[in-house]
Amino acid sequence: MKIHRVKSAGQGQALAAELFAGISDESPDSPVGLATGGTMSGVYSALATDGFCPKFSDAFALDEYQGISPASENSYANELTRKFTEPLNFQGKIHVPGQGDYAGQQGPKQFEKTITKLGPLSVQLLGIGVNGHIAFNEPGSSFYSKTRVVELHQETIKSNLVYFDGPASMPTHAVTQGLSTIKQASKLLLLVLGEAKEFALSKAINYPDESTPLAALLDHPGLELITDLNY
Ligand code: F6R
Repeated sequence: MKIHRVKSAGQGQALAAELFAGISDESPDSPVGLATGGTMSGVYSALATDGFCPKFSDAFALDEYQGISPASENSYANELTRKFTEPLNFQGKIHVPGQGDYAGQQGPKQFEKTITKLGPLSVQLLGIGVNGHIAFNEPGSSFYSKTRVVELHQETIKSNLVYFDGPASMPTHAVTQGLSTIKQASKLLLLVLGEAKEFALSKAINYPDESTPLAALLDHPGLELITDLNY
């Protein structure tokens, strides 16, 4: 694992944007992997500030809430449209699990087929949850998991509830790429920024088992960690 130590979250997000742009530009015929959430918002803003023009034509999202309309502000498809497609004037397609061609019972299988057909991804952007989740692979997920519907962990529901009107509108399930799906990407750019993530990072490194999904990525030869933590 290559480690980039940075002094602040902003510096980490700017570096991730620079690395993402460089790697994806080197392999314009390969798709890329996108993530959502607060950490990634800063990466996408940095890409826009840098005037980055995507050369790739396909991107794959990591995850999506189960059964949510893409018109909802809380859907990850919607978030990627607002934070990636529009500001970067991306003309290609973002494949989102659980949405469009990937909805319904056969959706996860279809998503896997498409990622295998168009992949491997040149680079996958990744953040982690405070409980060490990667995409919506919650603690206990198999390191060999594929794209599937999962039940959200109570800790994830608690931290993401702030984005919803109340518990009644907060989804309890999601569709997520599996840990083995994610590991098919040639490069993994993992951002672990802020003290809230320190416990998960340190646990994954010191006790790498299925209780911390991040541990599944540690043997990937193309893993690059960007962190402001001294774990
Ligand atoms: C979302 C995703 C999640 C987030 C994680 C961190 O697509 O993959 O694993 O990366 O929950 O989210 P933030 O950056 O909001 O702390």
